Amino acid sequence: MQMKTVILVLALSTAAFALDNGVMRTPPMGWLAWERFRCDIDCQNDPKNCISEALFMDMADRLSEDGWRDLGYEYINIDDCWSSMQRDAQGRLQADPKRFPGGIAKLARYIHDRGLKLGIYGDMGTHTCGGYPGTTLDKIETDAQTFADWGVDMLKLDGCYSNATYQEQGYPMMSKALNATGRPIGYSCSWPAYQGGLPPKVNYTQLGEICNLWRNYGDIQDSWDSVLSIVDWFFDNQDALQPVAGPGRWNDPDMLIIGDFGLSMDQSRSQMALWGILAAPLFMSNDLRMISSGARTILQNKVAIGINQDPLGIQGKRLLKEKSGIEVFWRPLSKGASALVFFSRRSDMPYRYMTSLKTLNYSAGAYDVFDVFLERPMSTLKDSTEFVVSINPSGVVMWYIYPAAEWQKEAESVQFREKLGRKFHRYANEVDAPLVL
Ligand code: GLA
Repeated sequence: MQMKTVILVLALSTAAFALDNGVMRTPPMGWLAWERFRCDIDCQNDPKNCISEALFMDMADRLSEDGWRDLGYEYINIDDCWSSMQRDAQGRLQADPKRFPGGIAKLARYIHDRGLKLGIYGDMGTHTCGGYPGTTLDKIETDAQTFADWGVDMLKLDGCYSNATYQEQGYPMMSKALNATGRPIGYSCSWPAYQGGLPPKVNYTQLGEICNLWRNYGDIQDSWDSVLSIVDWFFDNQDALQPVAGPGRWNDPDMLIIGDFGLSMDQSRSQMALWGILAAPLFMSNDLRMISSGARTILQNKVAIGINQDPLGIQGKRLLKEKSGIEVFWRPLSKGASALVFFSRRSDMPYRYMTSLKTLNYSAGAYDVFDVFLERPMSTLKDSTEFVVSINPSGVVMWYIYPAAEWQKEAESVQFREKLGRKFHRYANEVDAPLVL
């Protein structure tokens, strides 16, 4: 009895200081419509690609049948342009009747039946960025309840047609309203992106208490330049951004564009690797009905996903920015493991970068190295061993690093071997594979 009271008091006090919906203890993973399918509402001429229930059902089929769900990609997220231009007679949002004839509740059932979750999009203002009805302050409770009644599992709340004062009131109110529905609904806030993304304008302590993830910066586009500008902004501001992330509270550098048109295979591996270092949500925005095997292999890389999903949830950092155009990133992982990413901004040829783990702040000892994209173990390295990695232009070498003694123990367990998925897979530039000297 007494114990119960103590626990209750503890639970209540945490509830007052943290978004206690229990979801997204590791960065959420799934699929989000926006970058690839935008606001295409022309179902008459473009029935396969328009924003409609058919598109989300197609993607749900792909996630559940093509191995994605089992790797953790579980959210199917609707973005802008899903709703009717008018609210219903009771003042509730409603889906466009032509493009979503079954309504959102039915779509949610379809998605849940496949072991997946449904995300939806709204806007803390008069209109969404695409001009559809927004959530004004007086509609917050109605909209939260509508989403919960439909069986929605996540809400992305954008901030177009709004202002700072309005957002300051609205974003915390929606958090409370979602909690009050009793349905765990992951809450993605675009608020900081509208306030320049940095303190003192942005209060990250408060965001961590009311949102599960937040967009800090501009929209990703289907180009390498866009990925680079995002990477630059997040790592240039890492001192402000790195400490605020943790289980249930993530910085969101925006969607993965791997499988679209703008990135080479090397650049795709770079996005996957750096989103892993950033502990970023992994929302693919691509067409899973026609994705190249190269892109699929990168997105389904078990060790890259495992690094992103590490249960400690500590965001990584850029350690070094060399004059040569090489940058080194590091993320601490559970059980004494870590991830290293060697990234090249060069545009000439694979660059042979020499360093040692000691130079990269590793403490004295021996470490085993698993090359994430070559999908094979490399040699054991002493902290003082000098080695050379060969990094392709705009590409990465990503290592999963494990203290040697632990490695031996773990390597014997079947489970661990399965986790690493020993495929000894080869790809074209393996001739330029990292050399461990
Ligand atoms: C904003 C958001 C995007 C997307 C569009 C939809 O630009 O940042 O991610 O949701 O609105 O209109």
